Amino acid sequence: MRYPDIILTVGTLAMGVAAQVSSNGSAIFPLSNDTEFAFMLEATLSHSNNFGANTGEVLRAASQIIPGDFDSWYREFIFLANQIHGKAEAINAKRFPVSAREAYFRSATYYRAATTFLYANISDPRIYSVWDSALGDFDKAISLLPVPAERVNIPANNFTIPAIFYSAQSSVNTPNNHQQSPFNSTKRPTVIVGSGYDGSQEELYHSIGRAILDRGWNFITYEGPGQPTVRRQQGLGFIHNWWEVVTPVVDYLTKRHDVDMDKIGLIGVSFGGTLAPLAASREDRLSAVVAIDGLTDLFSALQSQFPPQINSLFESGNKTEFDALLLSFIGNPAMPTELRWIIAQSLWVFKTTSPFEWLTKLRDFKVDQTVANGIHCPVLIGEGENDSSAPGQAQEMMQFLRRKATYNLFKTDLGAGEHCQLGAEAQVAQVTLDWLSDVWEGINVPHNMTGGVY
Ligand SMILES: *[C@@H]1O[C@H](CO)[C@@H](O)[C@H](O)[C@H]1NC(C)=O
Ligand SMILES: *[C@@H]1O[C@H](CO)[C@@H](O)[C@H](O)[C@H]1NC(C)=O
Ligand SMILES: *[C@@H]1O[C@H](CO)[C@@H](O)[C@H](O)[C@H]1NC(C)=O
Ligand SMILES: *[C@@H]1O[C@H](CO)[C@@H](O)[C@H](O)[C@H]1NC(C)=O
Ligand SMILES: *[C@@H]1O[C@H](CO)[C@@H](O)[C@H](O)[C@H]1NC(C)=O
Ligand SMILES: *[C@@H]1O[C@H](CO)[C@@H](O)[C@H](O)[C@H]1NC(C)=O
Ligand SMILES: *[C@@H]1O[C@H](CO)[C@@H](O)[C@H](O)[C@H]1NC(C)=O
Ligand SMILES: *[C@@H]1O[C@H](CO)[C@@H](O)[C@H](O)[C@H]1NC(C)=O
Repeated sequence: MRYPDIILTVGTLAMGVAAQVSSNGSAIFPLSNDTEFAFMLEATLSHSNNFGANTGEVLRAASQIIPGDFDSWYREFIFLANQIHGKAEAINAKRFPVSAREAYFRSATYYRAATTFLYANISDPRIYSVWDSALGDFDKAISLLPVPAERVNIPANNFTIPAIFYSAQSSVNTPNNHQQSPFNSTKRPTVIVGSGYDGSQEELYHSIGRAILDRGWNFITYEGPGQPTVRRQQGLGFIHNWWEVVTPVVDYLTKRHDVDMDKIGLIGVSFGGTLAPLAASREDRLSAVVAIDGLTDLFSALQSQFPPQINSLFESGNKTEFDALLLSFIGNPAMPTELRWIIAQSLWVFKTTSPFEWLTKLRDFKVDQTVANGIHCPVLIGEGENDSSAPGQAQEMMQFLRRKATYNLFKTDLGAGEHCQLGAEAQVAQVTLDWLSDVWEGINVPHNMTGGVY
């Protein structure tokens, strides 16, 4: 996700939608003249770096998508997904497991991509049916890994956490790489990775999972309330007490024979850059936490990008008027896609029909001094040089965590400046996983790694 990166001037609110809007994206190389489409296309394209997409397939879809036209977005991705799915089904997976796996991984990505702009109408049955196709194809793909990954349902207080455990040996490259890893016992370091506001656990295999497995470590992903599969299958919206999600995952790890409980890392991606530190403030079995990127307060990041009229209407507490105004934006093609997307997406993930209620709840997701004081392990905080979604918040998190924190700036001139460093997955993996390794081996890590050895 990128929260609206918008400069928006609402003219006369009394007249409803007399609005003048300009938006400012910072895609590496824009694949659409709609900045939100460009960002989401880049996110999909980035999975090509780890077998989750192919560049030609995504670029072709991009060339056919009409900027701002949600139907054309869906049409192109569902076409691509169905075509690649058809190819996957036609492959004899017993004879050609690698071919089948690669096709299923890509069709799963394209099915997920097709759902991106459907949430303006949550009665749309495609929200569920297309997601089921994505899960089905992804499960076929992971069943074809050298060591199949395991789907596990972890019980939490009053919900269930769907998780996927990839054992260290399931990497395509690991069978004889133990020289690369200083850990060669049967108990392996294990990295828990969680996504954010819209990302799925499945895509994390392509963003950082393969890189974790390549280092000879276990990798586990999970989803909590508000996240794609839990939202659909259990009807639950986001909760701020994220330790209620992560602690059961850690409990699960203690029951496995192949996990080294002294070397458990937690990585949070995007809004996960808030969720992971929140969880770590009440979960002491983690030996390191990574925020990609440092995000202390999404509510105020959004507020700083809304026009003052919207903010003062919210602060006035007039829920009726506030809701009517924001709901009117969702279906208004004159509004920037960023704004239409964030409102629709937020109502979906918070399971509410009221924008006022969404923002009220969002206020509770905050990494502050108290949260930071509760964290007792090293924290790596990333920042993308051109990620303007939450300016200053990575630095703010550094200040809260002081000596516990390490900072790394990902540079625009190396193609890593985007939100979550989309497209520069190898740089993220190198920085974060080498840092994790140093932490686990007791090597002193610097306070600021920018431009350093990592
Ligand atoms: C986008 O941001 C750049 C750098 O902050 C600024 O110079 C430019 O004017 C902005 N463009 C728009 C359309 O707002
Ligand atoms: C963006 O718009 C310009 C001007 O209309 C056009 O030349 C260009 O091809 C468009 N680019 C994309 C990626 O749609
Ligand atoms: C939402 O989707 C449902 C199911 O497809 C449809 O019946 C309904 O008309 C849609 N609502 C709007 C506002 O488009
Ligand atoms: C789960 O239980 C907690 C209290 O233990 C409650 O605050 C929360 O609302 C419940 N969540 C759901 C989704 O029922
Ligand atoms: C790794 O294995 C080798 C030989 O099998 C052994 O000598 C070495 O002590 C092991 N290292 C660790 C860290 O367990
Ligand atoms: C909220 O705004 C509406 C529409 O402007 C107005 O009719 C209503 O009186 C306001 N309610 C309060 C409590 O101020
Ligand atoms: C992107 O980064 C460059 C530095 O490489 C900077 O000059 C530019 O202002 C940045 N743009 C945005 C929108 O952050
Ligand atoms: C880290 O170092 C870079 C480069 O030396 C510097 O620009 C940046 O301000 C530093 N950031 C922090 C949070 O220390």
